[in-house]
Amino acid sequence: MADIFEKLLKNAGPLGQHRERAHGYFAFPKLEGEIGSRMKFRGKDMIVWSLNNYLGLANHPEIRKTDAEAAAAFGLASPMGARMMSGNTDQHEQLESELAAFVFKQDAILMNFGYQGIMSTIDAICGRHDVIVYDAESHACIIDGLRLHPGHRYVFKHNDLEDFEKQMQRATALIEKQKAGGILVITEGVFGMAGDQGKLKEIAALKGKYDFRLLVDDAHGFGTLGKTGAGAGEAQGCQDAIDLYFSTFAKSMASIGAFLAGDKAIIDFIRYNIRSQIFAKSLPMPLVIGNLKRLEMLRTMPELKEKLWSNALKLQAGLKERGFDIGKTDTPVTPVYMIGGVEEATAMVMDLRENYKIFCSIVIYPVIPKGHIIYRLIPTASHTDADIQETLIAFTETKAKLDAGAYKVEAIPDMAEKK
Ligand SMILES: Cc1ncc(COP(=O)(O)O)c(C=O)c1O
Repeated sequence: MADIFEKLLKNAGPLGQHRERAHGYFAFPKLEGEIGSRMKFRGKDMIVWSLNNYLGLANHPEIRKTDAEAAAAFGLASPMGARMMSGNTDQHEQLESELAAFVFKQDAILMNFGYQGIMSTIDAICGRHDVIVYDAESHACIIDGLRLHPGHRYVFKHNDLEDFEKQMQRATALIEKQKAGGILVITEGVFGMAGDQGKLKEIAALKGKYDFRLLVDDAHGFGTLGKTGAGAGEAQGCQDAIDLYFSTFAKSMASIGAFLAGDKAIIDFIRYNIRSQIFAKSLPMPLVIGNLKRLEMLRTMPELKEKLWSNALKLQAGLKERGFDIGKTDTPVTPVYMIGGVEEATAMVMDLRENYKIFCSIVIYPVIPKGHIIYRLIPTASHTDADIQETLIAFTETKAKLDAGAYKVEAIPDMAEKK
């Protein structure tokens, strides 16, 4: 019999194979200092474009004060136990009702993490006769939720309504044949890599033609889209058609935790059946109080969202004017598409970091097809005009070098942190 660990030592996985050269630089880098548009990386000041701190709340003085006071008052232990057993509080319930009101739903349930929350939601509501129809570019947490589903699933090509209808017809036919089950459609408000919004309005319009319930993961839309910040559904005028609205606190709220909102009876069912919450300790009180404060700021400080958008539009317009391909984003998420191999991509990122002091994330194969590179920039309300201008210059100069073949290196250089 093989040692179960043996294969792990032979094959570190598609990203793990770069560990020896990349750890601490391309992977698991350490950004230091106050969270903001300028932070330190390996001792150097950088303009940072890789944090989902959309509204700049991470380091807002009022937020820092509230977080510190709540931590001093309650510590991290309180409340002890799972919500259902001993870990419920008035503040947890207050946060749930304020979140529900903010996204125009009857009720909401808190989750400790969005990733587990989505997986466990799918598990709680779908039985073996139910069919899930989902977008091909869904986030890993949705894909992992599907793994828990004992019934059928059909994937539709990303944001492709023709294919969506085809899959809905297959799902409907299967349910008619089974004479049991229903359909859950899952998509996202904003796709975090390309920055395009899910076609929620168009999918919602098909509710008359097909019978289904709609679950939307709006991790990047919550707080950034819509008149009041209620997200992609509000922006597209179809919030009512979203049966289950999900978001994490990890992005515009710059915190930890997540929530799911919908009709009271359904949320109540989930509250009593969501295994990742029933069998896990309650969200600590400082996070609940901190999240109440963040939500209040989302409600009362629209200028944060306006600043985010003004920065995003300046950055995107500047990139487009300089001939960069930023794809089909219609949100602050700003991908810059380029052609090149993994080695070239890493050499360019090093030049950006070492010589231009620009820190952004790169996405390479196997996340996207071979030969393509995406530089992913996340503008926030904290960025300044100077940040944007310096970045545009850096991108123009490094793109010229990329096109001239200056980054053609044999292998990924060894940039791993040496201890
Ligand atoms: C689309 C999407 N869904 C869910 C999650 C997971 O949320 P959390 O970080 O709260 O686990 C993320 C990442 O944060 C995300 O981008």
